Amino acid sequence: MELKVIKTDNPKKKPTGALGFGKYFTDHMFVMEYDDGKWHDARIQPYAPFTLEPCCSVFHYGQAVFEGTKAYRNKKGEIRLFRPRDNLERMNNSSDRICIPEFDVDFVLEALKQLVLLDGDWIPTDEGTSLYIRPSIIATENALGVHAARSYKMFIILSPSGSYYAHGLEPVKLYVEEHYVRACIGGTGHHKVVGNYAASLKAGEKANSLGYDQAMWLDSNEHKYVEEVGSMNIFFAFKDKVRTPALIGSILPGVTRKSVIELLRDEGVEVEETRIAISDVVEGAENGNLKEVFGTGTAAVISPVGDFGYGGKDYAVGGGKMGELSRHVYDELTGIQTGRVPDRFGWVVRIK
Ligand code: COI
Repeated sequence: MELKVIKTDNPKKKPTGALGFGKYFTDHMFVMEYDDGKWHDARIQPYAPFTLEPCCSVFHYGQAVFEGTKAYRNKKGEIRLFRPRDNLERMNNSSDRICIPEFDVDFVLEALKQLVLLDGDWIPTDEGTSLYIRPSIIATENALGVHAARSYKMFIILSPSGSYYAHGLEPVKLYVEEHYVRACIGGTGHHKVVGNYAASLKAGEKANSLGYDQAMWLDSNEHKYVEEVGSMNIFFAFKDKVRTPALIGSILPGVTRKSVIELLRDEGVEVEETRIAISDVVEGAENGNLKEVFGTGTAAVISPVGDFGYGGKDYAVGGGKMGELSRHVYDELTGIQTGRVPDRFGWVVRIK
């Protein structure tokens, strides 16, 4: 398929102050359509609104998936993507779960590189900033019947961003949610399907109203085992080893999660992917065996946890401060992403 490039003749003003997360968008986007059994009309075009009919299927049945990946520009002027193929492959897996047709990963990866290069001067270079890349696919058939749509639109937009949480690397406070669940085995929790995020909002609001930053999710069956936090995977550094919930079917297989596991194991740290009972976490916090807790995600990178509330009681972790391991993992990961630390894993795709 040919990739058309239509450049804007009206470039936007770039943001000057604090970027925040996902508030500004660059001059161009990638768009591709699916009809009659094939993807077609791939183009890079000026960033602009879409026109969709009120009967458009995505508005009614939520058939949509998305991804999040990042580009970094360092002081040497290099532009670096972090494991972008993993995100695009995961996107096809998510699509398959809700009957969206797959796309050609090689083609979209090349289009993504061209898009990032075209808007390369939008990539911020300050510490903790990056260009957040948001690929999405929505169903666009104009019909109200409940069935897999016959038409889709894929798009990729770019957002120069700072840290995901306003307080940056300050440890967050989690509320262990015992009523609402994020996902169940056999559902869509293992995939980046938009409905998962809608389903998470109520618990997030509840956590906020009780004075916590985010919800910590438990399993849907017994409400006993930790699954994720907010929209991140979670790691517990116990005295003897690091533990993270195993990918049992209701947990998102995070690219940052996978990278942290590979990084730590490469350094000789024991990392166990297992079921983690909230009672063991509470016990570790009480007897001091639980040293650190941190969340991982593309947007947040590493988010240290300072304490958590469960069953009406609050438990402090690591004295409420960012621990040594969380700091180390953050430094290593962002170092590899930006080029400060050599990429011994081959994770980075340098495009300039
Ligand atoms: C990401 O980390 O990229 C996410 O998708 C989390 C959130 C921004 C939805």
